[in-house]
Amino acid sequence: MKALICEAYGPIDNLVIKDIPSPVPGARQLLIEVRAAAVNFPDALMVQGLYQVKPPLPFTPGAEISGIVKAVGAEVKHFKAGDRVIAIVGQGGFAEECLADAAKTMSLPAGMDFETGAALVLTYCTSLHALRDCGHLQAGETLVVLGAAGGVGIAAIEIGKAMGARVIAAASSDDKLELCKRVGADDTVNYSTENLKDRINELTAGKGADVVYDPVGGPYTEPALRALAWHGRLLVIGFAAGDIPKIPLNLALLKERSIVGVYWGDSTKHDPAGHLANLHQLHAWFAAGTIRPVVSEHFSLAAAADAIAKIANRQVKGKIVVLPNT
Ligand SMILES: NC(=O)c1ccc[n+]([C@@H]2O[C@H](COP(=O)([O-])OP(=O)(O)OC[C@H]3O[C@@H](n4cnc5c(N)ncnc54)[C@H](OP(=O)(O)O)[C@@H]3O)[C@@H](O)[C@H]2O)c1
Repeated sequence: MKALICEAYGPIDNLVIKDIPSPVPGARQLLIEVRAAAVNFPDALMVQGLYQVKPPLPFTPGAEISGIVKAVGAEVKHFKAGDRVIAIVGQGGFAEECLADAAKTMSLPAGMDFETGAALVLTYCTSLHALRDCGHLQAGETLVVLGAAGGVGIAAIEIGKAMGARVIAAASSDDKLELCKRVGADDTVNYSTENLKDRINELTAGKGADVVYDPVGGPYTEPALRALAWHGRLLVIGFAAGDIPKIPLNLALLKERSIVGVYWGDSTKHDPAGHLANLHQLHAWFAAGTIRPVVSEHFSLAAAADAIAKIANRQVKGKIVVLPNT
C-alpha cells in the first residue's frame, strides 16, 4: 500500500510517497482503509521535528482519519470488517491503510460523510474542551477567537455560538473573516489592518472580552490579553505564529485574569468520561445542524505533502483533507 513517509525530520518538501507493506493490527487494534485524512497544524510541526511528539523515524504523518474497517485484532469486540469509522491515530493517516487503537475509534455517525468525519474530532473536541472545561464560557459572555478561520478557530466560533456566547472572530484577511461571518461570528477584527486590543475594546464598549481563544501566539497574545475584562480567561491553545509569547504577569493580576493552558490530547487520558460526554455533545450538535465542519479543499495522497505545506504557510481556510483511496 502507498503511504506518505517522513524519513528524516526536516523540510516538508522532503516527504516522499512509498509502497510499504500493509500494517498488521495488534490485539486491540483495527486495520482501516483510509477514505479521508484531515490535515492539522501539528502534522506540519511533527514532520519538521518541532512538535512535542517526535515519532521514531521513518513514520507516516496524519493524525485523524475516517474509513472502512478491513480487519480487527483478536480482542476487539465492538467493530468488525466493513464498519464505517472515525479514528484518532496520532500518525499514520496519510496512507491507503492505517492502524487505529479500538479505544480511539468511533462509528461514523449516521448522515456524516467520510470527509466531515475526518475533519470533526480533533478540532471540535479541542475547542469544546477548551471553551467548556477550561474556559467555563457562559451564555451571554463575549468570546474572542484568534486565527478564527483556521481548523480549531472555525470550531471555536461554532461552539461558542452553540454555547450562547457573542463571538468576535479575529484573523489576518477580510477573505478569512468572511468565512468566519458565514459560520456565525457576530463581529470581526482584521488584525493585519486593525489594532487588536483597541478594536476588541471598541466592540465591547470598553468592558473587554470574557474569554480569548488563542491558537496563534506570537504578537497577538499580549494585545488580546490586555483586552480581557475583569475575571477574563485567556485559553492557550497553540503557537501557529511560531513564537511562544512571554507575558508580563501584572496583566493577570490587574483584572484577576486567568491564563489557562489547554492540551486536549492528554486531557482525554485524565478525564475519559468528560471526553466521551463532549463527543456525545458534538454528535448531538451535528445531528441538529448546529455545527458543520468546513472542508475547503481536497488533495490526493500524491499531493499530501502540498497539503501539509499549505497549512504551514497560513493558506488554509477551515479544514483540508487528503483522500488516499480516490
Ligand atoms: N492545545 C491543544 O490541545 C491543541 C489541539 C489542536 C491544535 N492545537 C494547536 O492549535 C494551533 C492551530 O491549529 P489548526 O490545526 O487550527 O491550524 P490552522 O488551521 O493552520 O490555523 C492556525 C491559524 O493561525 C494563524 N497564523 C498566524 N500566524 C501564522 C503563521 N506564521 N503560520 C501559520 N498560521 C498562522 C492563521 O490565521 P491568520 O492568517 O488569520 O492569522 C491560521 O489560520 C496549532 O498551533 C496547533 O498545534 C492545539
